[in-house]
Amino acid sequence: MKDYKRYLITAALPYANGPVHLGHLAGVYVPADIYVRYLRQRGRDVAFVCGSDEHGVPITIKAKKEGVSSQDIVDRYHKINKKAFTDLGISFDIYSRTTSPTHRETASEFFKLLYEKGEFIEKTTKQYFDTGANQFLADRYITGTCPKCHNEEAYGDQCESCGTSLNPTDLINPKSRLSGNAPELRDTKHWFLPLDKYEPWLKEWILEENKHWKPNVYGQCKSWIDAGLQPRAVSRDLDWGIPVPVEGAEGKVLYVWFDAPIGYISATKELTPDWEKYWKDDATRMIHFIGKDNIVFHCIIFPTMLKADGSYILPENVPANEFLNLEGDKISTSKNWAVWLHEYLEEFPGKQDVLRYVLCANSPEAKDNDFTWKDYQTRNNNELVAVLGNFVNRALVLTHKYFDGKVPEAGDLTDFDKDIIAQMPKIKDKVEASLENFRLREALAFAMELARLGNKYLAESEPWKLIKTDEARVKTILNISLQITANLSTVIEAFLPDTAKKLREFLNINVISWEDAAQANNVAAGHQTNKPSLLFEKVEDSQVEFQVEKLHKAKAANEAANAEAEPQKPNVSFDDFTKMDIRIGTILEAKKVAKTKKLLQLKIDTGIDTRTVVSGIAEYYEPEKIIGKQVSILVNLETRKIRGIESQGMILMAEDADGTLRFVEPSENTKEGSQVS
Ligand code: 2FM
Ligand code: ZN
Repeated sequence: MKDYKRYLITAALPYANGPVHLGHLAGVYVPADIYVRYLRQRGRDVAFVCGSDEHGVPITIKAKKEGVSSQDIVDRYHKINKKAFTDLGISFDIYSRTTSPTHRETASEFFKLLYEKGEFIEKTTKQYFDTGANQFLADRYITGTCPKCHNEEAYGDQCESCGTSLNPTDLINPKSRLSGNAPELRDTKHWFLPLDKYEPWLKEWILEENKHWKPNVYGQCKSWIDAGLQPRAVSRDLDWGIPVPVEGAEGKVLYVWFDAPIGYISATKELTPDWEKYWKDDATRMIHFIGKDNIVFHCIIFPTMLKADGSYILPENVPANEFLNLEGDKISTSKNWAVWLHEYLEEFPGKQDVLRYVLCANSPEAKDNDFTWKDYQTRNNNELVAVLGNFVNRALVLTHKYFDGKVPEAGDLTDFDKDIIAQMPKIKDKVEASLENFRLREALAFAMELARLGNKYLAESEPWKLIKTDEARVKTILNISLQITANLSTVIEAFLPDTAKKLREFLNINVISWEDAAQANNVAAGHQTNKPSLLFEKVEDSQVEFQVEKLHKAKAANEAANAEAEPQKPNVSFDDFTKMDIRIGTILEAKKVAKTKKLLQLKIDTGIDTRTVVSGIAEYYEPEKIIGKQVSILVNLETRKIRGIESQGMILMAEDADGTLRFVEPSENTKEGSQVS
């Protein structure tokens, strides 16, 4: 590979329309951070840039739903996500945002330059327009049936069911999300990036020069190119975004996918005045960390924009990951089926490395994977606690017990000792090779081999048995164990930075460089160590149960909140309505109907009389708690026999989306017999 002078590492800018969840982390941020931390350990010049993606329709839709401004929404989630990333130890050099003035200017200038070079096609096309809302319906403002998989809830830019990228005009039975109405087509002018013109170059650059890209990435690019590339609109008729900076473009903004990747450039500008060396010098290796849904934008569209400008470098690699599912289902922000990072960090304080570990160990590098709380528990208890924590704890506790915490001197080495020592550089080399090739879960498994090696060494040499008979041997064993611990602090650093720091604190040492991290002399004999505390705690079954239940409850609450009201029934005449005699009554007695789960037998004072009503509300109300409650009762319903009891009327109930029944009661105490009309 070429000898690069520096690295520019980008991590996909998350939309600031919601909090970051475990899927984002496993796919993008944890792998990017591991790689960057490793590069820094190797002393490479790295700029690690990210920020919030603050434009786009999902943000305006959310703002409208909450009755706040789009700026309020992005301010809220920018703050939450920025803090959560920091707390997880994601070590961005800058976490910017696409509403920053620098970004606005950079994106505008980028567009203008391409415009002035004549790179865009200006075209008037027909787009859907909602006459009621007086607005064009870009991207997610419109839904309809996917022409490919027939999912009825596909969006104007993408079908989330089959992943196909769409235009609003591809949808069957399009519907405005603003009014629910069928929109009409109207003329509107937009600017298009002619991907077709760049197709020969893209073919050469991707299909010939980038054969080293991951098979999932290369394969997706190939199928886009094979299908034939079309010009793509880079502007939208919206009022939230960066205004198209040319004349005759009032009411039009840059398409979010045009401005967002330029966010990487703006962030680098905000990071350093020397930003151009990262973007305009061939000796920079640019790598985009993304999820698989972003492949086309980072491998085809953004590179075409950069190429059209002509002064920028192109990505050398785009190690996109597949998706992480959650407890067997697709993670979904809209369905509230997600573990949110900021909530995890609040509920598991100090356990950021456990999450980093589990997400890396189970990373969806080659195929979609599943996160389950059970697996989180198993990996924590069986790997972090039982292997890494156990080894480090034993090495340090025994050193304190036998030698007051001072590193003992190694004596003559046995063949076993020599073999253990010889394993250290081999393990480190394997970690290194895997990291260099973006095989991060494999790299983590190799790093854990070092802890396993230490555990095996202690278990087989049994210093606790030898201490009475052969103290010199115990000194050697603990010396070697502490050398392994010291090397671990470097080898696990990129994956578990907080744990690595704790190891250095226990050992009372400074950072050991990557180059030195396989040696057996990193802690000198006589060096004073500190007493260790527990590195990891067990995760209990009750915590797993709590988290799984929390997920299901959140999903159900979301379904109930979003449930659409039942469609209106056919009209009735006023006369028909007045035939119903509804009165306010008071419950005098209530008891369960024997051998039924759902029925209560009620005695009601209707103002006209006292009568018996059987009602299917036993799952929602306890009989003793409803005595004295006022209800609405339909008194002229024909009597019916229910379980042998004559029911003389019907209590009116409101039914929630989840089927829960509630009394319809007057807001103030009302005289029995009052008519409801
Ligand atoms: O998919 C997403 O979450 C986008 N906000 C990613 C943008 S990446 C880059 F181009 F900014
Ligand atoms: Zn589809």
